[in-house]
Amino acid sequence: MDNLTQLRDLGLFEAKVPRYTSYPPATKFSNDVAATGFSDWITAIPAGTQVSLYLHVPFCRRLCWFCACRTQGVSNDAPVLAYLETLKKEIALVASLLPDGVEVARLHWGGGTPTLLGPTAITDLAAAVWRHFPRAENAEFSVEIDPNEIDDARLDALAAAGMNRASIGVQDFDPAIQKTIGRMQSYEITRDAVEGLRARGIHSLNADILFGLPDQTEERITESVQKLLSLNPDRVALYGYAHVPWMAKRQQLIPTDALPTPEERLNLFATAEALFKRDGYRPIGIDHFARPTDSLAQAARTGHMRRNFQGYTDDTCDVLIGLGASSISRFPQGFAQNTAGTAAYQKSVRAGDLATGRGHIFKGDDRLRARLIEALMCDFRINSAEILDSGLTDTATLETLFQTAANSFPGMVYHDATAFEILPAGRALTRMIARAFDSYEMQANGHSSAI
Ligand SMILES: C[S@@+](CC[C@H](N)C(=O)[O-])C[C@H]1O[C@@H](n2cnc3c(N)ncnc32)[C@H](O)[C@@H]1O
Ligand code: SF4
Repeated sequence: MDNLTQLRDLGLFEAKVPRYTSYPPATKFSNDVAATGFSDWITAIPAGTQVSLYLHVPFCRRLCWFCACRTQGVSNDAPVLAYLETLKKEIALVASLLPDGVEVARLHWGGGTPTLLGPTAITDLAAAVWRHFPRAENAEFSVEIDPNEIDDARLDALAAAGMNRASIGVQDFDPAIQKTIGRMQSYEITRDAVEGLRARGIHSLNADILFGLPDQTEERITESVQKLLSLNPDRVALYGYAHVPWMAKRQQLIPTDALPTPEERLNLFATAEALFKRDGYRPIGIDHFARPTDSLAQAARTGHMRRNFQGYTDDTCDVLIGLGASSISRFPQGFAQNTAGTAAYQKSVRAGDLATGRGHIFKGDDRLRARLIEALMCDFRINSAEILDSGLTDTATLETLFQTAANSFPGMVYHDATAFEILPAGRALTRMIARAFDSYEMQANGHSSAI
């Protein structure tokens, strides 16, 4: 039987599987965690440790049809400036709970489009962060940048605020595909953004590009990847386009009959992957590529890569504090998510309250399963010694978990007393194999396709 037939028989082309940027996935969070849970966890951070900080800006000037992110369109600055004031209030509130000596080693601004903030607002927000949260030496500060929504003044403000990493959204360079997905962006605009970032000393530049877009062909993705390679990003995220119109209503504008079949998606990914590898990029996890000198490639090589809400990362902090509407914080005790609606979020914070709406308290074998899934998503491999040394389980339980997962994927995984590994033939099934270690019931329609 050929590999494609095996993958089809194992259900790859029908499966709807979480992306496992957390375990349990955020869709499994409940009302168990409220503001008191969040404040208990934040005050329990050991004094003198380093944490990561994520700030969410849920606004865009344009709403791209393909986008499944949590964001809203704005045509003027009033709602953005009002949100900014609330965010600054939340920064002060959360920082006041922080134990002495806790420092921020990573700061990430995501969205939406954080760069829709003007230069003054950027300076103001960054100053508020660093005024309240002590900044670790060599702290990394990364920002998601829409090349259509950036200019010299904003780049200067970001650089002056200490931005040293950036991620740009490319998606696809083909004008016909751009039209179909409602996101026009010329090559020149993207190139200017890259040059502007490099000129300001950005030492790690990521670009997001998509496969599985409507009307995408092998030839078109080849051209797109080649254009991207001419810009020489340090890292690339090659995401599979997730068509989830029941969640992201604007995707209803995308013609479903123009979408590639699952088999074609697999082929589009393989085409792009071969081009990145040929150009010297190292494959990282299920959908990233990085120059061997980039810190993500180094982390992957040494087994230190992690997976969090922003995807793959070399950030090893145990605590991630998420601020802004819908942001998720991660603590050793569990997850806490802010209320998603911007109005409800602002109402809580303006009243002087934390905005925690839901979350998850780790219980039972959650931590064990979270680590098993993260190891598979990052390294395609679970090292038994690492799991047993961490005291999360015993040899017999681990063997049973390995055997149960292996039974569902014959010929695609290998396991013995030392490890469980996804074989190269089974790499496309990684999210499905990870799901075999997930004890929470998955809703068939709540997730994106496995390929
Ligand atoms: C939160 S967006 C921020 C990017 C920034 N606003 C921009 O447009 O350049 C981050 C990334 O999510 C990815 N993304 C958004 N919708 C997606 C979808 N439906 N399927 C796969 N990836 C998606 C895109 O690649 C996008 O660059
Ligand atoms: S892709 Fe970026 S700019 Fe477009 S809607 Fe999504 S977050 Fe906004």
